[in-house]
Amino acid sequence: MNWAKRIAPTVNSIPPSGIRRFFDIAAEMKGVISLGVGEPDFITPWHIRESCIYGLNRGQTAYTSNAGLLELREEIAKSLYNDYEVSYTPRTQILVTVGVSEGLDLALRALLSPGDEVLVPEPCYVSYKSCVTLAGGTAITVPTTMDNAFRITAAQLEAFVTPRTKILLIGYPNNPTGAVMSREDLLDIARFAKKHDLIVISDEIYAKLTYDGTHTCFSSLPDMMDRTIVLNGFSKAYAMTGWRIGYAAANPDFIGAMTKIHQYTMLCTPITAQVAAIEALKHGEKSAAQMTTEYNQRRRLILNGFRQMGLDCFEPKGAFYLFPSIKQTGLTSLAFAEQLLQIEKVALVPGDAFGESGEGFVRCSYATSTVNINEALIRIGRFVVNLKNR
Ligand SMILES: Cc1ncc(COP(=O)(O)O)c(C=O)c1O
Repeated sequence: MNWAKRIAPTVNSIPPSGIRRFFDIAAEMKGVISLGVGEPDFITPWHIRESCIYGLNRGQTAYTSNAGLLELREEIAKSLYNDYEVSYTPRTQILVTVGVSEGLDLALRALLSPGDEVLVPEPCYVSYKSCVTLAGGTAITVPTTMDNAFRITAAQLEAFVTPRTKILLIGYPNNPTGAVMSREDLLDIARFAKKHDLIVISDEIYAKLTYDGTHTCFSSLPDMMDRTIVLNGFSKAYAMTGWRIGYAAANPDFIGAMTKIHQYTMLCTPITAQVAAIEALKHGEKSAAQMTTEYNQRRRLILNGFRQMGLDCFEPKGAFYLFPSIKQTGLTSLAFAEQLLQIEKVALVPGDAFGESGEGFVRCSYATSTVNINEALIRIGRFVVNLKNR
């Protein structure tokens, strides 16, 4: 059968993730140091794992309500209030999802009709544009630059807004750049969203990994509560990527719409993950803070290492990625990453995997041990020197 002809054109039109493609190659090679995958190298703190095991032993193996265990939604609402002073009603304004990934997909599908446009600042997380396409919308990319610390401004966005623009999709702290937006920066964006009557989807999965200053939740800004869908989760802050759990917080009508899709497609998030997430929120603050402190030390190590190589390097203020410019080497992002992998066996992600405006950069994840980071820095340094001497 000719499957290519049977597969829906929308699915055919989207590329496979640039990260995965590259790491399939790396996985087959021996002795590779990976600064590639955006995943904590820590395992989930023991007390969170224990709570899940305890729950299983007590027979917690059934479906939960579609929206998630009420106790978990209450803990989520409490943590949002404690951390960012935003008030959500657990019963109507919180939906527990299979990671931010599902939350993003649900939000886009519940909002978009063909022709609707979504402003997506770039470079951005690999899923954003493809999820917009899969939901039937059109992603309009808005390039951000290192000169402006990879932030967006209302003035930049103004150039891309049209009568069809419905959503602004932002993710700060940012993957892949590590950029953050201050409260003042976000106020500018909030005014823009109000002026054009846009809905803002704010992916705040790296909120707890903010190193300088504090994170501002977008819905905490004046007049933004009702027009913002906050997405967050447990994967990064609590090293829980494999549990597949996150949440959306938004207007009750909108949470109702997302829940409709969720109930027919996912039914509910696994109860095992929900039980563990309750423990993470109740008692996980200390472990999360310890991991953040460790990432911060690695951040300084890797930033200094790249700067000593003479590469132009923006100082990341959040998440666990460094996004150095490799323009002065004269190689494209892909050529740099491929040659580095072949010659020095270090895997990192070409910047163009995060959109065209990522060309000329590479993404290095520092969610790996300092031993690995030090060895990777030696190898990359040697590679860069050899390039200069070529
Ligand atoms: C910006 C961003 N959003 C969402 C996700 C996916 O998160 P989750 O594991 O909660 O689905 C990732 C994972 O790398 C990410 O970097």
